[in-house]
Amino acid sequence: MKLSAFFTLSSYGIREILFKKHQPILGTIILTDKCNLHCKHCAVNNINGIIYPYKQIRNEMKMLYGQGVRILFFCGGETFLWEDQGKTVRDLTREAKKMGFLIVNIVTNGTHPIDIPEADLILVSLDGDKEHHNEIRGDVFDTIMENVEHATKDNIIFYMAVNQLNKSTIGKVGEITRRMKNVRAVSFNFHTPYPGTKALSLSAKEKAICCRKIEKLMDAGVPVFNLKSAFPYLIHNTFPVPCKQCVVVENGKVWRCGRCIDVPDLCGQCGYFFAAEYALVFRCHIKVILDMLRTYLKYI
Ligand SMILES: C[S@@+](CC[C@H](N)C(=O)[O-])C[C@H]1O[C@@H](n2cnc3c(N)ncnc32)[C@H](O)[C@@H]1O
Ligand code: SF4
Ligand code: SF4
Repeated sequence: MKLSAFFTLSSYGIREILFKKHQPILGTIILTDKCNLHCKHCAVNNINGIIYPYKQIRNEMKMLYGQGVRILFFCGGETFLWEDQGKTVRDLTREAKKMGFLIVNIVTNGTHPIDIPEADLILVSLDGDKEHHNEIRGDVFDTIMENVEHATKDNIIFYMAVNQLNKSTIGKVGEITRRMKNVRAVSFNFHTPYPGTKALSLSAKEKAICCRKIEKLMDAGVPVFNLKSAFPYLIHNTFPVPCKQCVVVENGKVWRCGRCIDVPDLCGQCGYFFAAEYALVFRCHIKVILDMLRTYLKYI
């Protein structure tokens, strides 16, 4: 991360903690909900199957920038399926950078060739070793590994949603992370039990075991893009929800924190680490703030 970006984000953080204006800093734009996969844990794919138009996405970028958002995520559906008027997600990334967003990240299932050196981070979902990943996502593990291997920049973070099916493979994902040259780190979430996916949820005891495994990876020098200081709050779901500094936009509609805010009682079972981490930072949890500074400087 450039030093100027670091200072801008830090000064936003200090203002937000002092004046509690609840101004958003992290924004996510959903480019499409169309997806080439049908993962077992996912409830947000292929609902309307629309690729949102380029002009609309541009306007959403401008709106978020105007509201003060400086960390932008492109998400889906599958982001690499997005294409309109000859533009791709790479063009959107370049334009977002030009517009002034300080950090621009993309989340993808990794089944398409990865060539977006302008992105700060490309989060490639990896839900276990070959056997477990394919059990959840279909037969795509080898394609993903090949695409990661041949990516044009080392700006990749593996992104694992830990659930009942793959909780035993945290260590293996750590090993894969360590041996791949284009992969900067691995980042974990716990399963969030959207309707129809409750059976994949982890109990607090199981989450505690997973956190110990993640800590073990950290201790062994595996790069992990998560904040250890937030683990106790994630295990027991005691972090303040929703995250007031995060917004999501899809098709002109804006949600505070996540679209999942519309699902009754889901926030109390939230497994998204970013929600816990940002919510705790802005409630002035000093340990989490220091952890975030250290981690972001290391990996972005
Ligand atoms: C919805 S996908 C969209 C981007 C892309 N298609 C992908 O799979 O990375 C974004 C991330 O959300 C995760 N995810 C989906 N359903 C989830 C759930 N119920 N709980 C936690 N994470 C989930 C996915 O594993 C993926 O890493
Ligand atoms: S690839 Fe992403 S959007 Fe598609 S089904 Fe899987 S998690 Fe959902
Ligand atoms: S806290 Fe935010 S990310 Fe978590 S379930 Fe609620 S709206 Fe979704």
